[in-house]
Amino acid sequence: MKKIIIINGPNLNLLGKREPNIYGSLSFTEFFDTVKEKYPEVELSYFQSNIEGELIDKLQEFGFNSDGIVLNAAAYTHTSVGIGDAVKAIETPVIEVHISNTFSREEFRHQSFISPNAKGVILGFGLQSYELAIQSFL
Ligand code: DQA
Repeated sequence: MKKIIIINGPNLNLLGKREPNIYGSLSFTEFFDTVKEKYPEVELSYFQSNIEGELIDKLQEFGFNSDGIVLNAAAYTHTSVGIGDAVKAIETPVIEVHISNTFSREEFRHQSFISPNAKGVILGFGLQSYELAIQSFL
């Protein structure tokens, strides 16, 4: 059984409530339940934190004993050298995902500390971005 974790960064606990015109009206847990049902052959887990160091701890925890990490570091994507370094340090491949097309938004969202060390980047497909990332590991 493949072991995959989805790691979500700051403010993504508000999905469904937060700027629904950009991020949609489904909560992440609702979405996660449907994905778990759809891929019963995958050992899928989910972690969300608003705290940078907790995201780094989780990357380290899963980074040597799982098959894939789907990471939406949210705003930390554009600011965090620490998360970028963690992605570089671990062995498990990381797919960077974003719900919105960050390149069609403000210029500060065009920079990513994760992309250079990610296996790939999927963005702009709404919550489907996560599912595409999972499929890429299967
Ligand atoms: C995001 C894009 C980021 O720029 C933003 O800070 C987020 C969400 C996305 O999934 O589209 O919080 O990562």
